[in-house]
Amino acid sequence: MERMKLEYGTGSLRGAITVPGDKSISHRAVMFGSIAEGRTTISGFLAGEDCLRTIDCFRSLGVDIVRNGTDLTISSPGIDGWAEPSDILYTGNSGTTTRLILGVLAGSRVHSVVSGDSSIARRPMKRVTGPLALMGADIRGRDSARYTPLAVQGGPLSAIEYDMPVASAQVKSAILFAAMRAEGESVIREKDVSRDHTERMMRNFGISVESGGGEIRLRGGQKPSAVHVEVPGDISSAAFFLAAGAAVQGSEVELENVGLNPTRTGMLDVLEAMGADVSVRESVTGDSEKRGTLTVRHSDLRGTEISGSLIPRLIDEIPVIALLATQAEGVTVIRDAEELRVKETDRIAAVAEELGKLGADIEPTPDGMVIRGPVRLHGGVLHSRGDHRIGMMAAVAALIADGPVELEDPGCIAISYPAFFDDLKSLLR
Ligand code: S3P
Repeated sequence: MERMKLEYGTGSLRGAITVPGDKSISHRAVMFGSIAEGRTTISGFLAGEDCLRTIDCFRSLGVDIVRNGTDLTISSPGIDGWAEPSDILYTGNSGTTTRLILGVLAGSRVHSVVSGDSSIARRPMKRVTGPLALMGADIRGRDSARYTPLAVQGGPLSAIEYDMPVASAQVKSAILFAAMRAEGESVIREKDVSRDHTERMMRNFGISVESGGGEIRLRGGQKPSAVHVEVPGDISSAAFFLAAGAAVQGSEVELENVGLNPTRTGMLDVLEAMGADVSVRESVTGDSEKRGTLTVRHSDLRGTEISGSLIPRLIDEIPVIALLATQAEGVTVIRDAEELRVKETDRIAAVAEELGKLGADIEPTPDGMVIRGPVRLHGGVLHSRGDHRIGMMAAVAALIADGPVELEDPGCIAISYPAFFDDLKSLLR
């Protein structure tokens, strides 16, 4: 396995970058574009491994998808014209592809088998296959459809009224895709609101969906119409540079065209609470997904508390927020984040153990962590554990640490941010 030396000296980060397209929105754009009959075009698509897996799956269903860098043209016969795939639909490391496609396939007319890598094989799927079964979906798999591989026989579905037991946009979206094909009106209730890209994109594709007050209502039998989608930059990728800019002396970093959907901007609230110097300049676009330029400058930081409805708004940023908290004065407490245990890796254990190797004081708890700072991090050898966000957290840790840091298995960073190290190097002064 590859090991990479992360040698960045003691320089600061200065300059501007445009982070790659939003992962959640890129997946959804391919899915809606494949369900809709006709020609959908996408710009700003994230050509990371996860989203490329989504493209492969829909190509296997007979959808014509042409990619030119970050531009896509999707020509689809529509979901009722899909071909039955002759091999498994391989979703790689992508939880979003795996969970959302189950909801899409359940209401299709084809038989298919969905399977991914060894991390996907460990991730809980009952949260999706359970509600889909209540809608009449025919999905079978290991341990009563708890784990991949999962075989889906598409067919007619009925509407559902469902109270979400966990705040999960993946589960919500799978149900919404199925509900779009179901007979009757579905109602989904969320205690804490998760990212709402699916609801917004449905409207862009001409689907009527009501949402508000923690409730979503969708009438079944609606067909999306092909449109153009412009994907903003991914705030979850920007997060690594926000943290680096805030923590490294003398830094000033500008991040352009970052998606600012309020269900995703929890990290900006946390940075403010920690005393970070971040300014937000919103662009005027008229798009349903807000976007803008973020500027971060180094400043002194203080500890904070992160819990409750804030958690789904920054769930993927917690590894790098935890790293930042090691540099803040005082204690940072993260609670209500037990979902981190079932991400690409157990991210609570991964963060505490990997940053612990550099001397960080992080106490893992069942649903979060307690971080005491500030601590001068020293050098060491970290392991990404095949988790892109742990890999990028390690790279930011290397910018902060006094001694040399090496990273085992940095390749997984290409899952969400193939040009991460190029962008990082372009900012180093
Ligand atoms: C995602 C939702 C989140 C997030 C993941 C992407 C999505 O997962 O962690 O990276 O695109 O819907 P959960 O829905 O499981 O919380």
